[in-house]
Amino acid sequence: MAGAGRRAARVAVFPLPFQGHITPMLQLAGALHARGLAITVLHTAFNAPDPARHPEFSFAAVPDAISDAAAATEDGSMDRALAMNAAVEAPALAESVRDALASMLRAGEQEEEEPRLACLVIDATLTAVQEAAAGLGVPTLVLHTCSAACFRLFRSYDMLYDKGYLPAQESNLLLPVKELPPLQVRDLFDPSKLPSKEIGLKLLNLANETTARSSGAIINTFEALEAQELETVRGELAEKGIPIFPIGPLHKLTSVDSVGTSLLKQDSTCIQWLDTQESGSVLYVSFGSVVHITQDEFTEVACGLANSGKPFLWVVRRGLVLGVEKPELPEGFESAVKGRGKVIEWAPQQEVLAHSAIGGFWTHSGWNSTLESVYEGVPMLSRPNFGDQLVTARYVEDRWKIGILLEGVLEREKIKRAITMLMEEKEGMETRQRAKNLKEKMRMCLESSGSSQQAVDKLVDHILSF
Ligand code: UDX
Repeated sequence: MAGAGRRAARVAVFPLPFQGHITPMLQLAGALHARGLAITVLHTAFNAPDPARHPEFSFAAVPDAISDAAAATEDGSMDRALAMNAAVEAPALAESVRDALASMLRAGEQEEEEPRLACLVIDATLTAVQEAAAGLGVPTLVLHTCSAACFRLFRSYDMLYDKGYLPAQESNLLLPVKELPPLQVRDLFDPSKLPSKEIGLKLLNLANETTARSSGAIINTFEALEAQELETVRGELAEKGIPIFPIGPLHKLTSVDSVGTSLLKQDSTCIQWLDTQESGSVLYVSFGSVVHITQDEFTEVACGLANSGKPFLWVVRRGLVLGVEKPELPEGFESAVKGRGKVIEWAPQQEVLAHSAIGGFWTHSGWNSTLESVYEGVPMLSRPNFGDQLVTARYVEDRWKIGILLEGVLEREKIKRAITMLMEEKEGMETRQRAKNLKEKMRMCLESSGSSQQAVDKLVDHILSF
């Protein structure tokens, strides 16, 4: 198998060039490589992964104009997201992908030692790239980097408009969406709120389009976590002959580590600092790689953490505060939290969550962060910002009951109360116990006979059948 002579087939992968998408794609590539497949990572110059960290993979760069699109639009705006998406979908980029795939196909036919190209795995929104592959007869698999619940929601927008849940009204925000429990109207990412509802809906529909034209959908989740949601999606796709593969948590199904996937340098000094803290006492605070908050919110978070009296490790990445490259902490903050608070720019998050000093995770409910927290049995304080994060936060609080949702305007007293509830009070202790129980379920799916390991085996068989 791995490393032993000629590989059974080659799989090309193309992630969307953002941390939350590059990470699971490289992890999936690692899982497939470990089962005997050769891997080529296609990537943009923007947010390019470092080939030196992955000697087991081949890399092929495709030219892109994403940095230009990002630079030409306002930080954090929807315009920016749309412009960057357009750059990823640009015809020139798709053409370069086609050339790279054509060259892999030729090599597979002409070179004895070179395995044949079996398929391309794409991020869910890359329709133009998928078309380029289809033009060469290369099948595509789609990697969904969000939960099955979120995937199910994105397939339900026609229903949500037909039944009047959307556009959301002030009066129906708390209304349960009975077709998609436990979601409420306020958890739906509402395209009507975007500058153009049509463009918003088009973006949301990309994942459905690519999936419908694919030879299979891979979802970074596991059966015991989302049985109902997977059953619905599986049933819908089975009608079209499209299999689904619930393969998660990807970070534990792969040898690709977080140093190898991180676009930013991780500050490991926090681990020595955690070593000095009491077991289960520290709140880890991080809002992922793309969320922005306002200057006022930043100040309230800082004061809430300071006033909570609890030890904390806070990731303040560059650009976290809208329009500010390097956010500055409020005056007096450092002396107020001396010894019990540490602020860093980027953490070795998986290592942090695995540390015995960590007792809670204040998160933006990004899907990778959520899976990493579930794996370590760490209860969460959820503060979702947009898109799939709203869905995940609702599931964390209402379905899995392993976290507390922090809603409304961010305000220091409210933050202090929420931290105390999570870290000290009865409700927090019960949440912690349920997080520990779910951790055990997740670990079972990773055993050799577990559902996720079996799904990887099935996926490899499927790929070899192309
Ligand atoms: C985005 C969306 O926010 C998320 O909801 C979607 O599912 C994927 O794309 P991001 O915001 O970056 O991703 O969040 P998340 O999915 O949680 O991914 C962040 C990754 O960065 C995690 O794997 C986490 O371990 C890593 N990270 C985060 C670090 O390595 N260090 C840090 O300090 C913070």
